[in-house]
This record gives sequence, structure tokens and C-alpha cells, in this order.
Amino acid sequence: MMWFMERITLSRHSRCLKDVRTIACSLANRQRHGPSKNAMAPASDLGIVREKIATAGSLAVLTGAGISADSGVPTFRGADGLWRNFRAEELATPEAFERDPRLVWEWYNWRRELIATKKPNPAHDTVVEFERRASQFWLITQNVDGLHRAAGSEKLSEIHGNIWKVRCTVCGVVEDNREVPIPILPSCRHCQGLLRPHIVWFGESLATSDLARCAAALQSCDVLLVIGTSGVVYPAAGFASVAKQAGAFVAEINPDPTPHSDLVDVSLKGRAKEVVPLLL
Ligand code: OAD
Repeated sequence: MMWFMERITLSRHSRCLKDVRTIACSLANRQRHGPSKNAMAPASDLGIVREKIATAGSLAVLTGAGISADSGVPTFRGADGLWRNFRAEELATPEAFERDPRLVWEWYNWRRELIATKKPNPAHDTVVEFERRASQFWLITQNVDGLHRAAGSEKLSEIHGNIWKVRCTVCGVVEDNREVPIPILPSCRHCQGLLRPHIVWFGESLATSDLARCAAALQSCDVLLVIGTSGVVYPAAGFASVAKQAGAFVAEINPDPTPHSDLVDVSLKGRAKEVVPLLL
């Protein structure tokens, strides 16, 4: 657990990246010398993953922006990714908010307006069904759009926060807020302090309680599904390695290759809304 607690800051580079790479390399080598996962037809891969899920005593799911892409929420990276048009350091850092809170709120207002019109898709619905069927289940999402909760997921950690929550920069109170648009520079109804999005920005720490819950799920799960994440933002980028090292069967669902692709047992290429429902 100790290594886990060391990596609590949202970052594009892990302080322990070397460790993760070492684990990833050794696992990839083991796979290269074992039966080739690529030798199987996609239908066989689907069957294997479905069977693993059906017989798992404990199932964990890690999701990223790709699962919401099919609902119309833009991803962060890739051809149409948000970070192509915006610089993360200008918008998603505490320094950016201190420098220009109006700009940051305008960006979050734009995203709130966009997300407010979106609905969960069949992949979100299937994750709810996984939760209902599994004897032990935990969902770890990097998404702040709230679509997993909207679909009905209850056993989850929103490790990067939630765009529908605000936090007072003065008194620290966290509250739900679904105003669209929210007034630019909104103030706390308790102390009049400036509110900020309740989102973990680059350079900020993830909640220790969330990390502890995630560590427990990753270290005890029989199966981990990694859906729609580019696998470049830590600490979540290290989660597949953790589960794999603890003995879990790990499957990835993504239309494109990721840093996880060589590490996982099965990589299912395709869109979440099409592939994930086939795993029930
Ligand atoms: P990214 O935008 O980095 O990656 C999205 C992933 O989804 C890519 O690997 C795509 O190939 C994949 N993808 C695209 N369409 C898909 C589809 N229909 N089905 C399945 N997969 C699809 O998003 P994240 O990995 O979630 O942080 O990014 C991690 C964090 O970086 C985010 O949580 C955000 C960002 O900065 C915060 O907001 C704090």
C-alpha cells in the first residue's frame, strides 16, 4: 500500500514511473514468451473476457474519457481531444485558477453546458449491470462528467472529482451545483468565498480515502476492465500494473493502442458502447 500512497498527485508523469515501467516490461516479456494473446480471433477474446467476468469473485473497472465519448462528451487527447485546443496548464491547475479564475470558470461553464445535454450510453449501463451481478465490485473513474452516477453506478470512486460539485476556496465546503450556466466567479452561500470546481487539477493530490479504496479494489480483484483511457495520467495510469501484479486478469477496451496494451491479457479493439455490452 505504501507505494500507492506515494503517488497521490495528478500528473502526466509518475514519480514512480520507472517502477511501473519495470513491472510493465517484465509482464510484457512474460506474455511474449507465453501463448500469444494476438493469436486469438476477436470473438474468442470477447468470449474469454466474458467468461472471466462471469466467474470473477471480485470485479474492478477503470474508466476514462473514452467511455463517455460515445455519449458525445469530447475526450482530452486524440484528434478531437480538448487538450488540442486548450493548454492544460492554462486551465486545469491551481495556479491557473489563482491567476485567472474567470477564464477557468468560463471553460468549466462551457463543459457543464455541453455535458448537461449528454446521457449515459450502453457502456455506462453495462457497468451498472456488472455492479449488480458481481459479488464484489468497484468502479474507478477518471471522468468528472457524472455519467456513471446518472446511469445508476453506486460503488464508485470519482478520483478526479465531479464537474457538478463546487468547493469553497475559503471555508472548503463541498456542495452539489447543477446550475447551467453557473454565474462566472460564483460565491459560497455560507461565507461568500470564491467557489471553484470540485475537480482534482494537475499538481493536486487525490483524496487519500479514494486512493485507499482504489488500492484495495485493485489488489483484490480477479478481473480488471480498463475502458477508454489513454493511460498517461498518473496515478490512474499505473492502476492496470497494480492489478496485474496482484494476479488479476486485465482486459482493455479501446479503439486505439495505449501504454497498457502490451501489459494487459486481452486488448479488445473497439468503441466502448459496442464492445462493453457484449461482455455481459
Ligand atoms: P484521454 O482523452 O487521454 O483518452 C481517451 C481514451 O479514450 C483514448 O485512449 C481513446 O483512444 C479512447 N477512446 C476514444 N473513443 C473511445 C470510444 N468510443 N470507446 C472507448 N475508448 C475510446 O482521457 P483519459 O485517459 O480519461 O483529468 O484522461 C485522463 C485525465 O486526463 C482526465 O481525467 C482528465 C485529463 O486531463 C482531469 O480532468 C482532472
